[in-house]
Amino acid sequence: MTQTPPQPLRVVAVSGTLSSPSKTDALVDAVLDELALVLPIERHVIRLSELGPLFAGALTRDQLDERVERELRAVEGADLLIAASPVYRASFTGLFKHFFDFVEQYALVDVPVLLAATGGSERHALILEHSLRPLFGFFQALTLPLGVYAHASDFTDRRVTAPLLQERIRAAIARGLPLIRSSVDEARRIQRTVDGVRDELDVLPTPAARDAVPVRLYS
Ligand SMILES: Cc1cc2nc3c(=O)[nH]c(=O)nc-3n(C[C@H](O)[C@H](O)[C@H](O)COP(=O)(O)O)c2cc1C
Repeated sequence: MTQTPPQPLRVVAVSGTLSSPSKTDALVDAVLDELALVLPIERHVIRLSELGPLFAGALTRDQLDERVERELRAVEGADLLIAASPVYRASFTGLFKHFFDFVEQYALVDVPVLLAATGGSERHALILEHSLRPLFGFFQALTLPLGVYAHASDFTDRRVTAPLLQERIRAAIARGLPLIRSSVDEARRIQRTVDGVRDELDVLPTPAARDAVPVRLYS
């Protein structure tokens, strides 16, 4: 009997830098490469240095370009999110926040989020805890216990080369794995239940019964 291969995880990374080339982009790539060693993943990277000009002047979601809308849907449908930004003035970039201001308020409930940041100084490593974690706390997302912070001397030619940082990336993933697995299993179980209820309601006669489909079993 042939076995179905495991469904890859939809991993979406948002890099909030305005620069290209970028250390934040390089950090995101290093995290994704490490993740791919331990899980089957389908990676999608959203670089705000490319996307920014398409939404920086928009005030509401209905004003957004189609490509930005597609990227927001990718974030909202992710199994695992990597949220990465350089430190600008002791916080994430304004563009990073502006992008997440368009994300639907409940789309990230219970979604695992790995936090990552780069800065010019080691002294701003707590951006992970005082800026990024509260933002994803607002979304009721499942921020993973260890985040990853890098500064200039961790890179050579825009690649992560510092052994301690590589070790930290491996530790962040290893600590996060049980949470990622249980969250993805639960989301898929809920989806199967919702699909099953929908199938049953397809043979029920009344529109009122159809309206009773539980679209959100959590929250
Ligand atoms: C406008 C601006 C503000 C910055 N503010 C800080 C800061 O407050 N703390 C810090 O450690 N680095 C700060 N930096 C440095 C960047 O965070 C750092 O160089 C980062 O690694 C750049 O990432 P990137 O190559 O992905 O753009 C700032 C850089 C810019 C351009």
